[in-house]
Amino acid sequence: MANDRIRQWLRERIGVDPCALGEDAIDRAINRRLHETGLSPEAYYSTLQAGSDERQALIESVIVPETWFFRERGAFAALTEWALSRWEHIERFRVLSLPCSSGEEAYSIAIALKEAGWKRGQVEIHGIDISERSIEKARRGVYRSNSIREDFHHRERYLHPRSHEFEIDHELKSWVDFRQANLFGDPEPVKSGWYDVIFCRNLMIYLNENARRRAIDRLERWIKPDGLLLMGAVELLSSITDRFEPVGSNWPSAYRRTRSVEASKAAAPSPSAPPPHSLLNTRTESAKTRNSNFRYIEPTRGESQLTGSMDVQTDTLIQAQRLANEGNLGEALEIVSRLITVEPRPRAAAFYLRGVIEQALDHPRLAEESYRKTLFLDPAHEGALAQLALLRERGGDGPGAARLRKRLTRTPQTQGEPS
Ligand SMILES: C[S@@+](CC[C@H](N)C(=O)[O-])C[C@H]1O[C@@H](n2cnc3c(N)ncnc32)[C@H](O)[C@@H]1O
Repeated sequence: MANDRIRQWLRERIGVDPCALGEDAIDRAINRRLHETGLSPEAYYSTLQAGSDERQALIESVIVPETWFFRERGAFAALTEWALSRWEHIERFRVLSLPCSSGEEAYSIAIALKEAGWKRGQVEIHGIDISERSIEKARRGVYRSNSIREDFHHRERYLHPRSHEFEIDHELKSWVDFRQANLFGDPEPVKSGWYDVIFCRNLMIYLNENARRRAIDRLERWIKPDGLLLMGAVELLSSITDRFEPVGSNWPSAYRRTRSVEASKAAAPSPSAPPPHSLLNTRTESAKTRNSNFRYIEPTRGESQLTGSMDVQTDTLIQAQRLANEGNLGEALEIVSRLITVEPRPRAAAFYLRGVIEQALDHPRLAEESYRKTLFLDPAHEGALAQLALLRERGGDGPGAARLRKRLTRTPQTQGEPS
């Protein structure tokens, strides 16, 4: 059937996992394109094969561009710690945000580095996304309040109010280069061994297993041997690959390439130099010398995300996340469950992590319960919506899964945000 071939084309092109996004969501997108073009499925498939603009239109109708400034801010703390620990050795610090969606993540990287004392010429930030519409928006640098869900230090310096919108500071805009490209594109969209840090957050969750592996292959090639890979809060790499290992920073989804015994011997630091991943020690020293007042991490909506704030509960949650990343699921579950019972204010992030672990341990009913609690605390929690929809679908509740996916694909654009 032509519809199957169109779905297959999408799978090959962007690796989308119909279960994560919703088989319905993909069919709806295809039907919308068929309706708008007035083509039969067969003619439409031929058009795709011919390499027309319709390829991009179909992709645009399937992607989930949800993003905001300093989303999962602990990742930005890990970035600046890493950058500070290397600033003496690196002439030009190169960071990739892929996928960058409409640019909030890449601009947050620029703000974090600037606040940490880096100068424009010392930093190279690239933002890449498959969506032309999102890249245009990123280049324009004009946002609605929906993109500003977290407060951050010196916000007024970087986002200037303009009627009902906010415009990125002109100078900051020049810190980031945006480009439309497919992570899976051929030729590859970026150079090998180029980046000190890669942000690849909140994409894997939508990919099928094969695509995740292909993505990891590429990230491994593009990052420098001692580079830092930052994933989304609960994107556990241990279940996909052993070629990246947790770094041991305050951000639990921070990884570096796994060193073989030989490589680690060869790369062993001299006794006087700090090991490259001992973030906390080196940060203290470098932060003092670069910018002693640096502090962009402020108290945040503690219930919505894992954060970089250093209260005991957050530490415990991070510890549980790290254990889960390392494959110690039983221990991680015990810690996060205990945390939930002692926390004065329950947090969505804790319930979500518990759900992820329970699901990995093959306890779908318990996981479902945890995801429902996550959504009670944070009704827009993307991960919980996606995972719960998947569990509902597997349990035979198609309409329930569809309702959840509708919430998941409710993007800023569909809420009245300009595209
Ligand atoms: C949920 S957003 C994540 C944005 C940002 N990293 C964040 O965490 O806020 C997912 C983005 O992935 C992009 N995307 C999906 N498949 C892609 C691919 N194959 N190559 C590049 N970008 C892709 C989509 O266009 C969308 O903007």
